[in-house]
Amino acid sequence: MFFRSKVAGVGSFLPEKVLTNYDLEKMVDTSHDWILQRTGIERRHVVDENEGTSDLCVRAANNALKDANMTVDQIDLIMVATVTPDYKMPACACLVQAKLGAKNIMAFDINAACSGFIYGLFIADQFIKTGAYKNILVIGAENLTRLLNYKDRDTCILFGDGAGAFILSQTSATDENYLMTAHAHAEGAHAELLWSKGGGTRYPISQQVLDDGSHYMQMKGKEIFKNATRTMATACKEALAAINKTAADIDWIVPHQANLRITEAVANQFDFPMARIVSTVHETGNTSAASIPIAFDMAYKDGRIKRGQLILLTAFGAGLTSGSAILRF
Ligand SMILES: CC(C)(COP(=O)(O)OP(=O)(O)OC[C@H]1O[C@@H](n2cnc3c(N)ncnc32)[C@H](O)[C@@H]1OP(=O)(O)O)[C@@H](O)C(=O)NCCC(=O)NCCS
Repeated sequence: MFFRSKVAGVGSFLPEKVLTNYDLEKMVDTSHDWILQRTGIERRHVVDENEGTSDLCVRAANNALKDANMTVDQIDLIMVATVTPDYKMPACACLVQAKLGAKNIMAFDINAACSGFIYGLFIADQFIKTGAYKNILVIGAENLTRLLNYKDRDTCILFGDGAGAFILSQTSATDENYLMTAHAHAEGAHAELLWSKGGGTRYPISQQVLDDGSHYMQMKGKEIFKNATRTMATACKEALAAINKTAADIDWIVPHQANLRITEAVANQFDFPMARIVSTVHETGNTSAASIPIAFDMAYKDGRIKRGQLILLTAFGAGLTSGSAILRF
């Protein structure tokens, strides 16, 4: 018996509070024009003091359940892709399981940074294809603004908070709407290009870590930019080749929302029109693992993405991780 997995439901959630580029002008030496021109970002949503990553997950998950016309007791597994869990332990997914009131099911986190959601889809697809599980909740969620140093203009202008979720469900081997292929990679030798060095077990929290700020996210922006365009373009080619399609067959590309210039550079490599690339970075900033399901949901809810279309997802992130997936929605 063979199975396929299909996207049964999609949902997302952005916190109400908004931080604009003009707000950032009052915090660091930057300007709205600089940020907009270099990144395409105009604003980002930010958690309030009572919200944690698990709360964002629950809001996105409930929206995905509603979209799938399902109840939480039908879910067999919860995965949360995040680098900003509520606590170092236990996993954010366990907190989400409790808050959703889900039954006593497997729940775990995936730490693959901005590629985490694609890692999650890839993993969920394996469980469904083998028949182990029927309905899997894959969430990407981040509370990155709590990991940022608002004195470091290189990083603090880029990121925002939010969550997005897919429900992947088992379908028959003849269903044409399914997750057709998924790919994931890592190049750990470049880990220091984007990391939070302090505050883990290698450099535990200490006065020195706090003084040098190494518990905050640190990034070599130019190198990250180059690697992002290289690896996302390669991952797209890999996914297209795996199902014997070309970019012309794709209705929409939903890339990780890091920077509009990165998206444009990837599009150029395929001669793919920007009009068929979903871009929400102006509204959300970079929400890491949450960015693909948020962008997908926004384009689905406003009518751009439709059922039956062929969609290419691609991501790049700390690790350095990267990945791609193609689904007929
Ligand atoms: C961060 C990023 C926007 C910087 O853009 P850039 O074109 O590389 O800019 P540079 O670093 O060359 O800086 C250009 C100038 O702007 C200045 N600058 C840097 N950050 C600034 C800011 N926030 N506001 C205003 N000026 C800034 C620099 O000091 C530099 O000034 P100088 O020419 O006088 O030395 C860009 O490198 C980038 O997007 N990288 C990828 C980041 C990313 O997506 N990370 C997550 C991946 S998942």
